[in-house]
Amino acid sequence: MGENGLYIQMFSVHGLLRAENMELGRDADTGGQINYVVELARHLAQQEGVNQVDLFTRLLVDRKVSEDYSQVEEAIAENCRIVRIQCGGRKYIRKELLWPHLDEFVDRTIKFNKRQGRLPDILHGHYADAGYVAMQLSRIFGIPFVFTGHSLGRVKKDKLLNEGMKTSDINKKYKIDQRISVEEEILKYADLMIASTHQEVQQQYGVYRYDHRPTFKIIPPGLDIDKFYPYYHDMLNEGEKNEAQIYTKASLLTELNRFFGNPEKPLVLALCRPDKRKNISGLVQAFGEDKDLQAMANLAVFAGIRKDIEVMEDNERDVLTNMLLLMDKYDLYGKMAIPKKHDFEQEVPELYRIAAEKQGVFINPALTEPFGLTLLEASASGLPIVATEDGGPKDIVDNCQNGILVDPTDARQITGALKKIVADEELWKRYSKNGTLNVRKHYTWENHARVYLEQMKPLAEKNRSDLAGPMKPRIAIGRRLNRLNYFIISDIDHTLIGADNSGLAPLKKLIESQRDHIGFAVATGRTVESAAQYLKKHDAPDPDIIVSSVGTEIYYGSRCQYGQGWHTHIAHKWNRDKITNLLNGFDFLEYQEEETQRIHKVSYYMEPGKDRLAMVHDRLLGNKCRYTLIYSHDRYLDILPARASKGKALRYLSYKWEIPLANFLVCGDSGNDEEMLKGEPLAVVVGNYSPELEKLKGRRNTYFARQPYSKGILEGLERYQFINKARGSV
Ligand code: GLC
Ligand code: MG
Repeated sequence: MGENGLYIQMFSVHGLLRAENMELGRDADTGGQINYVVELARHLAQQEGVNQVDLFTRLLVDRKVSEDYSQVEEAIAENCRIVRIQCGGRKYIRKELLWPHLDEFVDRTIKFNKRQGRLPDILHGHYADAGYVAMQLSRIFGIPFVFTGHSLGRVKKDKLLNEGMKTSDINKKYKIDQRISVEEEILKYADLMIASTHQEVQQQYGVYRYDHRPTFKIIPPGLDIDKFYPYYHDMLNEGEKNEAQIYTKASLLTELNRFFGNPEKPLVLALCRPDKRKNISGLVQAFGEDKDLQAMANLAVFAGIRKDIEVMEDNERDVLTNMLLLMDKYDLYGKMAIPKKHDFEQEVPELYRIAAEKQGVFINPALTEPFGLTLLEASASGLPIVATEDGGPKDIVDNCQNGILVDPTDARQITGALKKIVADEELWKRYSKNGTLNVRKHYTWENHARVYLEQMKPLAEKNRSDLAGPMKPRIAIGRRLNRLNYFIISDIDHTLIGADNSGLAPLKKLIESQRDHIGFAVATGRTVESAAQYLKKHDAPDPDIIVSSVGTEIYYGSRCQYGQGWHTHIAHKWNRDKITNLLNGFDFLEYQEEETQRIHKVSYYMEPGKDRLAMVHDRLLGNKCRYTLIYSHDRYLDILPARASKGKALRYLSYKWEIPLANFLVCGDSGNDEEMLKGEPLAVVVGNYSPELEKLKGRRNTYFARQPYSKGILEGLERYQFINKARGSV
């Protein structure tokens, strides 16, 4: 990518994310995804052609979690860092509660980018929440958007429905419909979807509806191959085991030996959570019914950690009780081990190697298996596998040629495959060797990063040439705003456009000639459609931003992209229906035409009259409404959310795009412009102003032009030397 190399921004919003000592499994939000994104970032950054990788997550300042999560930046490597962005306060909250705060995450990331003066080539979101963030940024900046689901809402919803949970409860607890609708939007919008397996694309994304099939690329995640080194390293004394590892192995052997009459036999190993879908009972039953297999091999089932089965959750308790009953029924004492606990970090790699040393087989009899991480770990350690023919295992056996796929509901297929591998030494060796080598070929982060970049480079290149191309494409508005530091903002009616428009053409020419330094925005009571039309009709300058409907809506760029961040921000404590119901009874209020009414704006006509405004306020305040009321031109009564108004919208724009308010030149003519004219911005009141602005006279930074309308704006620009200021020559 040019001389600079790619700059990738990744997003993974929820959970506890840090570069080292990840707290995997600490809670439902801190799982495999955390490890995935950190490893991906780390390995991408090492690749040639990559300049920088930033991984954005949520900033947490909360005594309940480590201080590590409160660092704004944390290095993963020299050109790779975690960047933490605040949203929804600083307390650690579960991911389902983050939805209302993601627009804040977007806005703060925009600020971050503006401050660092650099935009990425690729935006990559992980899971629906961060997918939303990256997608919004992609829309604003016109940067390619890549998405990895990790898990999907529809799949989870189906599963919960199957377990008997009610739709309303699922939504209450998991906000599942919100998640699904974002995923559907992502499916329509993403430039590239990354999946780990064919099963994910076919079965999981398969339950989503889409008109155009998105582009999928299957790239399996990498494995920590150093941890799952092959068993023969130990046998050849190659592995430099420390005392703790030796101890772990010894205690595992002691533990196993306790169960077996003949511990020397090959070991069939199963390892999974005690979950019905893992089909442990199918396995024990198959083993129990096959005397030949019992003669050939021992079975060890590690089914999670248990202390007291009686106090476990229903699903887990049923699975474990069933397992014990079957063991008894088939009298598998001396042939089957069911150790009580295993510690994933330390024991599991040793366990695979013990099974491999004993010429055993790893079995995954699950009814469905989306990915099959344990199969990869076992394979990497040199243990042949037998696995369900559903989902992820298919890809694994395809890639590695290291085992046999079976129908997990067919006991004879299971035992047949196990016996075949145990009995045939040549086959065992081939599978073992294929597994060790091919996992290292297909399932490393290094390999993942290589394939990933093959996909990203053309995406980013196309985008860069689109931006630089001779067709002068419409540069995404975000890119433009990321550069600008000065803005002219004008009211429309009776300010920019009015009875005398002779200044409009020269103003337009001036604004166009300064486009590289100065942005242009309008702030109006009109709707966005009406504003855009009216500006066009009068051949007014093209605005970069339209603040419409009295500051309740913001639109960016020539395509009028809706400002979702502002929407979310002002929605706070707004209840439109309540307000219209309360004001219904006043006969001095006439509800305006439907087209002027907006989600965040209720508008009436009202002739001036004694105590009328006070009555409106009393009724609303008496009923605990939160709102802003603006009465203008002795005729218009607008009720807006407490956080909205033209002036507040400008302050928000200044904050979000990191443009100092003092670099705004704001023009208006009447009372509804008053708020935006006050304070830090350079204010211009056009000559034809209404009397209610008289009181601004003599204020700092407030210029009363002699000329009316657009001519007054030109006069104000001159007076403040605004053009020179923006060009840095004042
Ligand atoms: C525009 C709008 C109207 C609003 C008035 C004052 O005329 O169409 O709804 O009340 O501005 O803000
Ligand atoms: Mg006006």
